[in-house]
Amino acid sequence: MAEKRDFLRLGDLSLGEHRELRHRARVLKERRAHGVVDTSLAGKTLALIFEKPSTRTKLSFEAAITQLGGGAISIGGADSQMSRGETLADTARVVSRYADAIVFRTFGHDRLEELARAATAPVINGLSDQAHPVQLLADLMTVEEKLGKISGVAIAFVGDGTSNMAASWMEAAALFDFDLRIGAPAAYTPPTPMKSVTVAESAHDAVKGADVVVTDVWTSMGQEKESADRVRALRPYQVNRELLSFASKNAIVMHCLPAHRGEEITGDVVDGPQSVVLDEAENRLHAQKALLEHLLTQDAPKPARYPK
Ligand code: CP
Ligand code: NVA
Repeated sequence: MAEKRDFLRLGDLSLGEHRELRHRARVLKERRAHGVVDTSLAGKTLALIFEKPSTRTKLSFEAAITQLGGGAISIGGADSQMSRGETLADTARVVSRYADAIVFRTFGHDRLEELARAATAPVINGLSDQAHPVQLLADLMTVEEKLGKISGVAIAFVGDGTSNMAASWMEAAALFDFDLRIGAPAAYTPPTPMKSVTVAESAHDAVKGADVVVTDVWTSMGQEKESADRVRALRPYQVNRELLSFASKNAIVMHCLPAHRGEEITGDVVDGPQSVVLDEAENRLHAQKALLEHLLTQDAPKPARYPK
């Protein structure tokens, strides 16, 4: 039987697989728009283990597997026996006996890797402190849908350059060959800028001429105690109409959501004509359907005959 595949970072799939997944996601989106019911994951079960809150990730994964004929089971960290000391490895081994794949949202990326090492089912990163790759699948699909291409576009990420979203955008820039400018204050610049990434302390410099302007919350889940300091330092990096006027005339505005209106982005920009945040959120559904099909049906053992 083929070895199970995890999706913890964007680089866990080849560029060819990424292209294939984006194509399949577009097809699935189109089919749903025409009322076609797909059952490619009939009989499959997806387990979701979430140690942090979620609206989009949890519901879009549940909707994805359900719409493809499978089912979802979920548990919050505090409700599981992990809150009473059961190890990640034991949890991983047990849940793998119930489910065909596991989506795990947690704090340290090392927890995700530990779960993935022990699980015999594929593990998908539903967001860790270091990365949010399933969000990027939808984001890249959205960029391609709106601008017709990914490679060569100029993307400005403004705000907390140390966030999981900034890290995943940086990984994406290195893999997909677009120009990423991070606009962030010195205390919030990424630790290790990568190929295709430039860092500017001025939000205006980062945004100037950009085709896409992206931001993320200033206080990520788990950082609530630092909130006042973050708001103070990041205030000049708010995505507002004035900042957006430096971008290319047809620039699109992206945000993985939830948005903290009045902090990292103003309400008029979130709701404005350049914002694609709702399409971006919708694309989570289509992109994750394609991912689930890919991880769950790859080289699936084909029985020689059906049991009687
Ligand atoms: N963008 C995103 O992952 O949203 P949730 O936290 O609601 O899942
Ligand atoms: N950086 C944010 C993303 C939320 C989807 C967080 O980790 O809270």
